[in-house]
Amino acid sequence: MPQATQLAPKSVPQKTFLRDYQPPSFWVRRMELDFSLDLVATRVRSRLHFERNGEKTGDWTLDGEDVRLRYLSLDGVPLAADRYRLTPTQLHLSALPVRGVLELETEINPAANTRLEGLYRSSGLFCTQCEAEGFRRITYYPDRPDVMASWRVRLSASRADCPVLLSNGNLVGAGDNGDGTHWALWDDPHPKPAYLFALVAGRLDYLESSHTTALGRDICLRIYVEPGNRERCAYAMDVLKRAMRWDEDRFGLNYDLDCFNIVAVSDFNMGAMENKGLNIFNSKYILADAQTATDRDFGFIESIVAHEYFHNWSGNRVTCRDWFQLSLKEGLTVFRDQEFSADMRSAPVQRIDDVKTLRARQFPEDAGPLAHPVRPESYIEINNFYTATVYEKGAEVIRMLQTLLGRAGFDKGVVLYFERYDGQAVTCDDWIAAMAQANGVDLSLFKQWYAQAGTPVLTADWVYHPAQSCLELTLRQQTPATPGQDEKAPLQMPVRCALLDATAQTVREEVLLLDQVQKTFRFEGLDAGLVPSLNRGFSVPVKLETSHSVAERLFLMEHDSDPFNRWEATQDCLRLLVLAQLDSGEDEDALSDDFLAAFKAPLHSGDPAFRALLLSLPTVESLADQMVVADYTRLCAGHRAVRTALAQALESDWDRLFHTCAVVRRAFDPACGEQSGLRALRAVALDYLCLLPVGKPHAAQLFATADNMTERMMALQALRDEDCPERQTMLDDFAARFGDHPLVMDKWFSLQATAQHPRTLDLVEALRQHPAFSWTNPNRVRALIGAFSVNNPLCFHDLSGRGYRLLAEAVLTLNGLNPQVAARLLTPLGTWQRVDEDRQRLMKQELRRILDSDNLSRDVYDVASRALGV
Ligand code: TRP
Ligand code: ZN
Repeated sequence: MPQATQLAPKSVPQKTFLRDYQPPSFWVRRMELDFSLDLVATRVRSRLHFERNGEKTGDWTLDGEDVRLRYLSLDGVPLAADRYRLTPTQLHLSALPVRGVLELETEINPAANTRLEGLYRSSGLFCTQCEAEGFRRITYYPDRPDVMASWRVRLSASRADCPVLLSNGNLVGAGDNGDGTHWALWDDPHPKPAYLFALVAGRLDYLESSHTTALGRDICLRIYVEPGNRERCAYAMDVLKRAMRWDEDRFGLNYDLDCFNIVAVSDFNMGAMENKGLNIFNSKYILADAQTATDRDFGFIESIVAHEYFHNWSGNRVTCRDWFQLSLKEGLTVFRDQEFSADMRSAPVQRIDDVKTLRARQFPEDAGPLAHPVRPESYIEINNFYTATVYEKGAEVIRMLQTLLGRAGFDKGVVLYFERYDGQAVTCDDWIAAMAQANGVDLSLFKQWYAQAGTPVLTADWVYHPAQSCLELTLRQQTPATPGQDEKAPLQMPVRCALLDATAQTVREEVLLLDQVQKTFRFEGLDAGLVPSLNRGFSVPVKLETSHSVAERLFLMEHDSDPFNRWEATQDCLRLLVLAQLDSGEDEDALSDDFLAAFKAPLHSGDPAFRALLLSLPTVESLADQMVVADYTRLCAGHRAVRTALAQALESDWDRLFHTCAVVRRAFDPACGEQSGLRALRAVALDYLCLLPVGKPHAAQLFATADNMTERMMALQALRDEDCPERQTMLDDFAARFGDHPLVMDKWFSLQATAQHPRTLDLVEALRQHPAFSWTNPNRVRALIGAFSVNNPLCFHDLSGRGYRLLAEAVLTLNGLNPQVAARLLTPLGTWQRVDEDRQRLMKQELRRILDSDNLSRDVYDVASRALGV
């Protein structure tokens, strides 16, 4: 039989397995670092105070990539060539004593670093990004999270170019070298792994404030930014202080250094990074004012500033033993930032937003070739596992524990976890053990959530037995197979359910524990006619299928006392409308009177932000999830038809809403939930109006008179897909006004890239040549290419294949510049299973083309090969 041709590149990157974990043969107890910062030749001197790990024997392997070793000594004596061995990625040391001091000097070139991992330059600054394995690009070191040392870092640089010198911990000294350079000495007493190391040097301005912890410690808070941006940090600073207070109040967790510094940089691979005492942020998640940021942006800033701060405990004080445990810190920290945001604003709105994100990002991941468990079992490149599954599903798993144990029991478990494991590198099993022990329960079955990939389908059926006045509710679970996991075990699911009577009173509410494939729950002593409200608050991250009748759905849509389920019922009804539209083709009176009555109920009263959610259609992407083969052309048309029908049927209501929601004579306040809610509601009204001829002047007028970015974007967004002169005028005006604001120009690129419009493909191709476009700025790449391929299914899936080609070309361009961003960018090509055969062929062809390219990075090879299923 002929051999199948191999797709893999010349040397296939190796996989790392969880089951192969071995404790290190040596610890580093103390790490001393000394940087002489230079644009192209930075010198890094280090002293590793090491110690053999117990009875372990054998050599010691340090990691190092793209670093030049200039000096190496042991206990002051230069090491002979036969005592060490260098490979392109490792330094092997043999015959080491039980303890000693290893001294090294390496040289690196920050100016040449476009990967943005390790030490690099971003608009004239030196900065670092070490998670997950970036420290090895600075010097040789055991770059693994279970090796924790206390660090002392000395920085030297030109005083003129780098007046500010920052690293982790507390500043313990500073001075002049007398040769135009100066130095600073930072000491971090809390043991930490290398991935939490950071330095920043450059010309920076800062906003300062302070916080006194519950334990009475005074902390100096600073947010460092490029000069000129100080005023735009006020909101981030406010969030930071609220987050510090919140963690003290809710979990008794206090900050533990004298200063807390944040730096905002323009070139960053991800959102932000929790380096101990020195968080580094993508400037997108720090800089904001009414003129340049939308309410959504302020919301992201609130989540992310809090998220990184919360890592100080969930991640830094207690860290991960190995990278398979990533969700230990990320799932828990996302959960914590979600709880924080829920307390800061409307909890139901926060929950709905979080579930929308989960469904938009994690559910598709779980249903495709890149599906993996919350705790993966192997990886080729760990950077590719900073996924929606590890973050968002990980947070849902933590939330289920809270549902299962109750808030008090859960908090008790959290407190025990931090007490017991403070200063250690631990596993998800350790986390579960603390939860179980604090509550005296057995969670061994629950742990399956960490090991099993795929989104379970939960089916609910019920019957009422009049003779026994009893309602029987049957819950059944089934998880579809995922790559490498054909068989699925039943999961433990805490399903919050209620029974509502005809007046929408809650007759029963309970958390039902489904811990097998199927279980029937009996509710005795009940009258007939009750309507179950199931999986309230989205207590379990599943796809729920119920046997509710249309009338029952309409009832829940109008009356469910659980806000999440009220929204869910509304979305279900809207989804059915769009799908019916697809079948019938034409709008033969698609909107029934009953539906309209229920839909209209929240039009003019209630919490504005919640109403905005109730009145919006599910996204095209989420509708596509319900189809065997996603047909975006028809879906977009059907989606638009239903929106247009709603626009027409309720035209005067939308008009009234648009006008009553104007926030007049009040200064823009990003922290005011009522204001931002009104703006969100106003945007919904405008979107509907703009589907009718009357709307366009409204949008143009709003754009011209708006005094804030939320309303400007609202106007642009409402005309995004329309082919009208108003749209182009606004876009041109926008570019003229904000050409000097990179973060705002990102919005300009995204808006055009996401337009459902026949000319979008031409436009996106052309925008790659725009003078403001840049392949080396991740935000800009994501704003154009990322937005196009993720948020414009209609054009991305153009039958010509041009959308796929455009993405593949971008991936190959970035492969050499920034592999981490290239690999992330390419994930939409992994959704081929969702589309028809012609498109599947085109998508796979692009994946193959990527895999067949020369010099493929490990990052891109990993995602492309898994996406293709090879
Ligand atoms: N730990 C960061 C967070 O979740 C994520 C992160 C920032 C990251 N930069 C990175 C992950 C670079 C991988 C690579 O807050
Ligand atoms: Zn995080």
